[in-house]
Amino acid sequence: MLKEPRIAAIDVGNDSLKAIFGKLEADLHIPNVIAQDTADRPIIGVEDLDEQEATEGIHIRLHSPILQENNAIYRVGQLATKSGNATELDPGSNKSEEDQTIVMLLAALALDAAREENKAIFKRSNNVIEATYTLGTGLPLREVKEGKDVGYRSQLLGSVHQVEFLVTPKYQGLKVNIKFDEVKVYPEGFAAFINLVMDNNLNVVNKELIDKRILIQDIGGLSTDVAVIQNRRVDDDKAQGFNLGVSESLDAIREEIFSKYGVELDSRADVVEIITKKNDRNHIMVKGSRTSVHEIVDRILLELAKKQYRHLRNIWARNSQTEICYFIGGGSIVLKDYLKALNNNLDGYNIDFFEDEKESVWMMANAYYKLITDFVNKNREVKQPEKEKTVATK
Ligand SMILES: Nc1ncnc2c1ncn2[C@@H]1O[C@H](COP(=O)(O)OP(=O)(O)OP(=O)(O)O)[C@@H](O)[C@H]1O
Ligand SMILES: [Mg+2]
Repeated sequence: MLKEPRIAAIDVGNDSLKAIFGKLEADLHIPNVIAQDTADRPIIGVEDLDEQEATEGIHIRLHSPILQENNAIYRVGQLATKSGNATELDPGSNKSEEDQTIVMLLAALALDAAREENKAIFKRSNNVIEATYTLGTGLPLREVKEGKDVGYRSQLLGSVHQVEFLVTPKYQGLKVNIKFDEVKVYPEGFAAFINLVMDNNLNVVNKELIDKRILIQDIGGLSTDVAVIQNRRVDDDKAQGFNLGVSESLDAIREEIFSKYGVELDSRADVVEIITKKNDRNHIMVKGSRTSVHEIVDRILLELAKKQYRHLRNIWARNSQTEICYFIGGGSIVLKDYLKALNNNLDGYNIDFFEDEKESVWMMANAYYKLITDFVNKNREVKQPEKEKTVATK
């Protein structure tokens, strides 16, 4: 039997990791937060938790020569948020050089490898799973420009990485040995462009767009990146990134709601829910009374939208022949109405947003999926005769 490595397309965003696996049958969305543990935490009712809670209870030990700190124990994602010493990526850091990026990446792959449904795909013996993946992922344009993608790729490719599940629901005691048969590292801006103009088979679906000069402004949790696309290519020299995302504003809203009304929201996600929900938007309950937080939300988000708009203006001024700018990323969903209003009152640029919120947030992961699937398909075509030969001789 010839088994092909499983496809994984993973976007390690500053705010959250998004991953797509196999033939699109599985995906993961995990907050990019980790906390290092010095000891295993006690086991409480782990047995009766289901798969969802495995994602919310990631507790692992990592063995990999590429980690600066090898054999460390981490809480990852939701579980880490609840711990006092959680770390999030620092806006000024390099994604490719942080242990945190690798920890997130390996945790997501191990979670996928351990799924019940994948028992048939990967070899399992004595609680050890041997998992081989073909990985498509990305780095910010800036890091690719500095050539950091080369080292990042060869590190991942060059060794076996082991994820050991500690007190994780369902998977406790499992060890996953992760290997890569191929790793592709795409620049983020380029990936967004691919996703806009091509379908899953990399056929051009947006003929109108492909030869235009376009901007893609990706507003994330901690950073914003603007890609300039011309002649079907990302113009490296014109791309811009800045350390301003939407997380800070969400935190500010949360703090102000607390100090004004004494209502404590648990997370940024709770704030997003309040400001984007379809019914009763921008309202909270205070001691049982429906209360508007419109003023707080509008003031803080308008402030951020103005900064983002200023940035758009600068880039547009330097790329005057741009035809359209697409706003993507979770931040664009939050700021959409404010940016549209500003634009209507000010310059009236040709700007566009994605109605489907999922599309906006999953843009990069979708793009990596398309690119890596295409790579695998093309590779298979080339390799096919060879494989048939080996099968025949066995
Ligand atoms: N469906 C949604 N609706 C509204 N806001 C969202 C949605 N999903 C995510 N967000 C918010 O948008 C912000 C950015 O999310 P996104 O996933 O684009 O960031 P990221 O890619 O992880 O970060 P970065 O691009 O900085 O690396 C987050 O703070 C999140 O709370
Ligand atoms: Mg992002």
